[in-house]
Amino acid sequence: MRKNIVAGNWKMNLKRDEGLDLINDVINLLPSDNKVEVVFAPSFIHLYKVNKMCLNLDKVNTASQNVSKEERGAFTGEISAEIIRSANVKYTIIGHSERREYFKETNEDLKQKVDVSLENNLEVIFCCGESLDQREEEVHFNWIKIQISESLFHLSSDDFRKIIIAYEPIWAIGTGVTASSDQAEEIHKFIREIIAQKYGDEIANNTSILYGGSCNPTNARDIFSKDNIDGGLIGGASLNAESFVEIIKSF
Ligand code: PGA
Repeated sequence: MRKNIVAGNWKMNLKRDEGLDLINDVINLLPSDNKVEVVFAPSFIHLYKVNKMCLNLDKVNTASQNVSKEERGAFTGEISAEIIRSANVKYTIIGHSERREYFKETNEDLKQKVDVSLENNLEVIFCCGESLDQREEEVHFNWIKIQISESLFHLSSDDFRKIIIAYEPIWAIGTGVTASSDQAEEIHKFIREIIAQKYGDEIANNTSILYGGSCNPTNARDIFSKDNIDGGLIGGASLNAESFVEIIKSF
C-alpha cells in the first residue's frame, strides 16, 4: 500500500540516553493529527528498547539499519532477520550506499538480504542511487535500473508489495547538497516506470518511493510536493527532534 513515510536513519550516532531522549521528544512533538508513518532506525543496541517505546503509538514503527544475508548460525557479530523480527521490528533498511561502499555489499548480497528479510516477515526499505560521476556521465538511470532489477526483480508480485524504495543520490548524502525537487521527481518517476514495466501499474502505483539526501525542514515541503515522492529517508536532520518533526509536518 502506497503511503507517506518519514524514516530517520540515525546511522552510527546517539548514545543510549541521547537516543531515548530523542524518541521521547519526537513523540511529544508529533501533531495529534499526524498522517505520516514515522520510522526510527536506531543502532542495533537501541532497537529493542526504541521499539518498545513505539509499540502502542499509531503510525510509529522501527527499522534496523542492516540485516545479515545469512539465515542463522556461526556468523559472529551478524544479526539475522529472524532475530530482528523477534523484537517486533517492522522494517529493515537494505542497500544503503554506505553499506555498499564501505562494506562492499553487492547487488547479489542485497538480493539475499531481501529474500531472508521477507521470509521472516521483515519489510524492506531498499536504497538505490548514483554517484556524482555517474550522474555527470549520464549513466545514472541505467545504474539505478541495474541496482533495482538485480536485487529485487526476482521477487513475486506479492513479495514486491512489501518493498519500499529509497532513492538516495550519493552526492547528496550528508553533503548539504540536495537534489532539486525536479531532479528527485525525475528519478522517482523513472523508478515507478521500471516497476510498472515489471509488475504492472497497480503495483507500481502502490509502491512508496522515498527520497534521501540532505533532506531538511527547509527543503522537505518542496520535495514532498512532487507526485512520485512519498516521503523521506532522513539522516542528519533526524538526529534533532525539532527538525525531524518539522520534516514530518511538511506533508
Ligand atoms: P542525510 O542522510 O540526510 O544526512 O543526507 C540520508 C541517508 O543517508 O539516509
